[in-house]
Amino acid sequence: MAEGKYHAWFECFAGCGERYPLNEVVYNCRKCGSLLQVEHDMEQLKKKTARQWIDLFHKRKHGNQWPYGGGVWSKKEWVLPTVENDNIVSMYEGESNLFWADRLGRELGISDLWIKLCGNSHTGSFKDLGMTVLVSAVKQMIAEGKNIRAVACASTGDTSAALAAYCAAAGITPVVFLPKNKVSVEQLIQPIANGALVISLKTDFDGCMKLVREITKNEEIYLANSMNSLRIEGQKTVGIEIVQQFDWIPPDVVVIPGGNLGNVSALGKGFLMMEELGLIKKRPMLVVAQARNANPLYLAYRKGWKNYRPVKAKTTLASAIQIGDPVSVQKAVKTLEQFNGIVEEASEKELVEAAVAADRTGMYTCPHTGVALAAMFKLAKRGVIKKADRVVVISTAHGLKFSDFKYKYHLNKLPFKSDNPNMPVETEPKLPAIMRAIDRHLKKKR
Ligand SMILES: Cc1ncc(COP(=O)(O)O)c(C=O)c1O
Ligand SMILES: [Zn+2]
Repeated sequence: MAEGKYHAWFECFAGCGERYPLNEVVYNCRKCGSLLQVEHDMEQLKKKTARQWIDLFHKRKHGNQWPYGGGVWSKKEWVLPTVENDNIVSMYEGESNLFWADRLGRELGISDLWIKLCGNSHTGSFKDLGMTVLVSAVKQMIAEGKNIRAVACASTGDTSAALAAYCAAAGITPVVFLPKNKVSVEQLIQPIANGALVISLKTDFDGCMKLVREITKNEEIYLANSMNSLRIEGQKTVGIEIVQQFDWIPPDVVVIPGGNLGNVSALGKGFLMMEELGLIKKRPMLVVAQARNANPLYLAYRKGWKNYRPVKAKTTLASAIQIGDPVSVQKAVKTLEQFNGIVEEASEKELVEAAVAADRTGMYTCPHTGVALAAMFKLAKRGVIKKADRVVVISTAHGLKFSDFKYKYHLNKLPFKSDNPNMPVETEPKLPAIMRAIDRHLKKKR
């Protein structure tokens, strides 16, 4: 069943008025070349009151009526109403934990600090939120007779993992373009395990992106990167879910790591939709955090958005955001303008020490979350984030995909000195020696 009375379509993001149906193979405006975005028939959606939407989402939460139980499809009318339920490819994405980081917050003097664990998901990153929507749309197009032979993406590791898993679940062929030696072993093995064609290229992400854009000019190979705005529709549910988890009260600040900049645009889109439909009355301040080694948005922000230029991204431990030429930069700038936005950067040492500090309070953070945390620490120190603010940091991937940097940190094998290494202690297998090690450890902690 498609949600009959609700309609959505692609529309030119630059505002030239071009529109295309969602089952057309199109990623850019054919008139002016701009990115597209999905627009919804808001007048139809406004026929339900805010209270009615809240009640509907509440009723569906965690339920088992296909496909409405998960975080994305519980909002189906707001996301992709045109897809038949039989064509939805879902593994119950979203509904990820939003937890109170009490101890870390106290260390910073921010008592209302929360972490949204988007990495606690099927393939270990927030990419599942968008990929369930895109692959469902592809399944629908194939069912309608479109000749789509494969779905392709360029990736820094997480997009390819999500594409491979959702395509495997749907019986569709995924082709993933990865920069050789620039993704973690776990990220590399994910699409391999799911049977994708993995093309390893001696270039960086931006090089892979250029090639996949060329390949997908052939309409039989569908493009799955976030410049395809179907992905944004799924990812926008993260903001809606956060507000739902706070009983429909938006937080004051949301901090999110940025690479290709699709995710911050998605976050903003979710908040704007809630505002337009009357579910919230205020907007949070949005903060994009970039690694200093891949910081084109930060550089433009520092210059008041003048002279935006792509950069050549340098190697960063936050490998999934090692992107110098972000596809969604225009959308991100507009979003930040709408949300009193800020961009902050983190050096390699700052991102690692921030991740380590969070781990010490019980987390197991990926380096991208480390970038977001480091940015948040700096803004809190400068008083831009206030002590009384309710702050949410979006943790974008599962730390277990990125253990290597933690391993190196604790063995003091990174290019800079580790402030807080926690090396394993080797002792004789004798009780007095073990007791001495425990005493030494307790003394050190005091
Ligand atoms: C773990 C992780 N964090 C952050 C990002 C950045 O998201 P975006 O590229 O949409 O800015 C990505 C993907 O690029 C990612 O995989
Ligand atoms: Zn246009």
